[in-house]
Amino acid sequence: MNLSEVASIGTARPVIGKDVLELLSTAMYVDPLTIYREYVQNAADAIDDARAAGLLRADEGAIAITIDPTTRTITIRDNGVGIASDAFQSILTAIGASSKRGTGARGFRGVGRLSGLAYARELTFRASAAGETQAHSLTWDCRALRSVLRDFDDRRELPEIVGAITVIDETSGVTADEHFFEVILTGVPRIGDDRLLSPAAVSDYLAQVAPVPMSSQFTLAPDIDAQLGSLNDIRRLVITVNGEAPLTRPFADEMPIEGGRPLCLRECRFIEIPSVDGGIAALAWVAHHDYEGAIHASTNVRGLRARVGDIQVGDSNLFEDIFPETRFNAWTVGEVHIFDPRIVPNGRRDDFERNVHLANLKNHLAPLGREVAVRCRTSSRERKRIRDFELAHLAALENIAILEQGSLAPNACEHVALAVDMTVMKMEKLATPDNLLNGEGRERAAIEDVKTRLETVTRSTASSSPLERMAPERRANYEEMFSLIYECAANRSAAKALIDRILAKIA
Ligand SMILES: Nc1ncnc2c1ncn2[C@@H]1O[C@H](COP(=O)(O)OP(=O)(O)OP(=O)(O)O)[C@@H](O)[C@H]1O
Ligand SMILES: [Mg+2]
Repeated sequence: MNLSEVASIGTARPVIGKDVLELLSTAMYVDPLTIYREYVQNAADAIDDARAAGLLRADEGAIAITIDPTTRTITIRDNGVGIASDAFQSILTAIGASSKRGTGARGFRGVGRLSGLAYARELTFRASAAGETQAHSLTWDCRALRSVLRDFDDRRELPEIVGAITVIDETSGVTADEHFFEVILTGVPRIGDDRLLSPAAVSDYLAQVAPVPMSSQFTLAPDIDAQLGSLNDIRRLVITVNGEAPLTRPFADEMPIEGGRPLCLRECRFIEIPSVDGGIAALAWVAHHDYEGAIHASTNVRGLRARVGDIQVGDSNLFEDIFPETRFNAWTVGEVHIFDPRIVPNGRRDDFERNVHLANLKNHLAPLGREVAVRCRTSSRERKRIRDFELAHLAALENIAILEQGSLAPNACEHVALAVDMTVMKMEKLATPDNLLNGEGRERAAIEDVKTRLETVTRSTASSSPLERMAPERRANYEEMFSLIYECAANRSAAKALIDRILAKIA
């Protein structure tokens, strides 16, 4: 049977049921904050269009977010192209019919704006285009939508339902040079920790995922921007939340960690990733640091992140499988900016569609994963080496102090001196140039110091110990007792302090 035969017996009219809406809104997004990413993505595309149309300069794209926890309202307003009156209804009631597909815009499925349906009592889109003096709005009654979805007997099809639960309005009073798009969520329900209505949580989230500029606190930023700019347009936005300072990306030279040492980013590694047929698929950068362990989540920079159109796709674990051990992703700070349009985010933008282009990208990222893993592993070995050296040094100094005290019998002295010799050998082994890159001079100096002090104390006959002045038999008794104290004490420095006090008494 060929297609013309099928056509000849008539075309079937597909039935599109209401559950599609459930799939596209409630069921689609796991983290409520992702609705902000969807609306920022739309605004970013509209601002690009406004720039291309000469309505905005390159540095003028702005999104103002207003969050009012008392009225439980969220407004997201951008100064992009907006939507012209004659297209308003058809664009905003269409489902899955994006005119952006194939244009290089970030959105392309035609469903992202529906994400807010699950998180409001009413969801309104309001827009005006340049040259028009009226704005249009379309309001979804989300409560009515939910009751329709719950009603098993309601068998109306999608277009009819959309018609019944949306209202379109026109307002005047807009100046002809205004162009904007507004998303207004009212009656936002409390979900979990109410993050949707927390300006701080929203700012933290968007600073990570949105196309906002790097912070001036990050010295590596100009270098990263220059590399990115040489391959692609950088199109950053001014995003404000409740009128606060515009958001910037969370990277900084030094990021504080509560109760720990700060994370210091100091050196940037770039990798250009070729696509399967020769172009450039992506640019990855990784900022090296001390690799002391998994990066604290509070820094908001943990993990190798993916970005398309400078908006993050997925979360911080998206690329963890490029590391020899997935845990090293949490030790990594970096981004992969993807330019190849054949590497396609999935509908939820929480991962990419599996295809040969994604596989190629991951293959090229694997050496970077191995390089980071080597740094993580050598850094933990190096930390252990330094710790072992310091412990040996402390043990040597403690024994030398005991010898310098002059409180031990000659054979016990020999014993302790031998222990110092052994410790010095251990220190020398730990400080060999092979496994020692930093602080070699300091460690050498420590070894030399221990050796000289040991030699001085074992050679010298003169001691300031009060035992020197005692009759040989009495002195031997004291020495034997002191040796016993050292032998039996759990804590040698406490034992030494005790003997110091006894010596001071008998002096
Ligand atoms: N801020 C905005 N400014 C102007 N037009 C907008 C804006 N937001 C949405 N639109 C219009 O509404 C359409 C649908 O938006 P929606 O987010 O649902 O889909 P999309 O962005 O095209 O694709 P995706 O589902 O991948 O996000 C867009 O294609 C665009 O034409
Ligand atoms: Mg979209």
